[in-house]
Amino acid sequence: MNTARVSINKDFRIGEVDPRLFGSFIEHLGRAVYGGIYEPDHPTADELGFRRDVLELIREIGVPVVRYPGGNFVSGYNWEDGVGPVAERPRRLDLAWKTTEPNLVGTNEFVAWAKCAGTEVNLAVNLGTRGIDAARDLVEYCNHPAGTYWSDLRRSHGVDQPHGVQLWCLGNEMDGPWQIGHKTAAEYGRIAAEAAKVMKWVDPSIQLVACGSSNARMATYPDWEATVLDHVYDHVEFISLHSYHGLAGDDLATFLAQSLAMDDQIETVIAACDVVKAKKRSRKQMMLSFDEWNVWYHARDRDRETMRQEPWRVAPLLTEEAYTLADAVVVGSMLISLLKHADRVKIACLAQLVNALAPIMTVTGGRAWRQTTFYPYLHASRYGRGTVLRLAIDSPSYENAEFGKVPFLEAIAIHEEESEMMTLFAVNRSLTDVLPIEVDLRGMPGYRLIEHLELADADPDATNTAERPNAVVPRARDDTSVENGVLSARLSPISWNLVRLAKAAG
Ligand code: AHR
Repeated sequence: MNTARVSINKDFRIGEVDPRLFGSFIEHLGRAVYGGIYEPDHPTADELGFRRDVLELIREIGVPVVRYPGGNFVSGYNWEDGVGPVAERPRRLDLAWKTTEPNLVGTNEFVAWAKCAGTEVNLAVNLGTRGIDAARDLVEYCNHPAGTYWSDLRRSHGVDQPHGVQLWCLGNEMDGPWQIGHKTAAEYGRIAAEAAKVMKWVDPSIQLVACGSSNARMATYPDWEATVLDHVYDHVEFISLHSYHGLAGDDLATFLAQSLAMDDQIETVIAACDVVKAKKRSRKQMMLSFDEWNVWYHARDRDRETMRQEPWRVAPLLTEEAYTLADAVVVGSMLISLLKHADRVKIACLAQLVNALAPIMTVTGGRAWRQTTFYPYLHASRYGRGTVLRLAIDSPSYENAEFGKVPFLEAIAIHEEESEMMTLFAVNRSLTDVLPIEVDLRGMPGYRLIEHLELADADPDATNTAERPNAVVPRARDDTSVENGVLSARLSPISWNLVRLAKAAG
């Protein structure tokens, strides 16, 4: 394999990373809430019923924001069912996932949990079966201090101080026929604009995310974005993007290139935003919230069967993906894609956080453990904060029927000015070969190597399980060096890499 050559210069800036780029998502779906974050009978449960072992893993990552309560679930959700005395809350059919929702956890419990987890809440309102009235009531319930019907109801529920939820989603995937209350772009654009208007009248400090397309394969994409933005441009700060990628058959080469589709989706949505901006002669720049992204394919068939054969259970096993090493490398390359667009993508949510499509898994009544995908997410959240630098990359590549020429190397660098730290995230997409890289650091004089960690395995299908939770973990490489302003490293086949550098003292 030829050497991939990279140049880094701290003056070639893409943009500042908004910490919310490393957000996540918890939906009332499967065992995400019940048996995931909430399990009052678990030996580690706190006084509110939340699992402390799960909270610890979430704090380890450092998740800045968590979207809640859906997803598809929110489009049939009455938020009023989830507040007030638990014993009086109704059990409801959740038509999105064919389950029974016991409403043991609702808005107040989730906000309390988020405080313990050290994260901000991003609440979604129901624009499927509900509308502007329920949306403005929920903002009043959460954010108005006191002296009105909804704020006093919150206080009567034992929550004296307002939650101050800053970030709100205007519905979920409203372009999808599977969505409860699915709408055309014009129908959604109108209701989203009106909901946004009154929600901000209740609390002018909030920020709003309008629904973009559910994925880039929708027939209405990207006209959906253009039409919706035409209605909501002056009322919202963000448009959402969603994308899940999977392995088709055994075509690993195509799977490993999926972040190129993410690049394309981000750039297309930016173009749609900027066309509407120009049409409106607006000075405002619309930002992107990639509020659902991940790998999802292992459990899809099994889930369809569960929903068909055993509907209406509470917290069944749904969307529990056993993530492989290859999946973690794709997640890593998707994180790089988000970072490459950090000037416009300000929020992103790995979907999801616990049990459902998750980096963190639990056994009900038992242990919690880290999936393979935990590690790229942890590294990016911990070391991916600062200024993203534009790299000049000259990498050997392979031909792929779907993507054309695909570089083996995917990489990005982040510079933390104050602490004078530099982080390089890199993926080797080769199925078989070590990829040697040489990084010209002359644009960043005086930097020395701290560590090179790689996530790799001889078996691309290797997973972590409850029984073998540490089968796939990052390991230090000892053959990486910095000499005469050049970083030399070798990247294992199908690997995720974290290389950290610091300015040498003196
Ligand atoms: O994250 C799982 C589901 O994927 C969400 O409920 C929905 O928004 C998307 O289709």
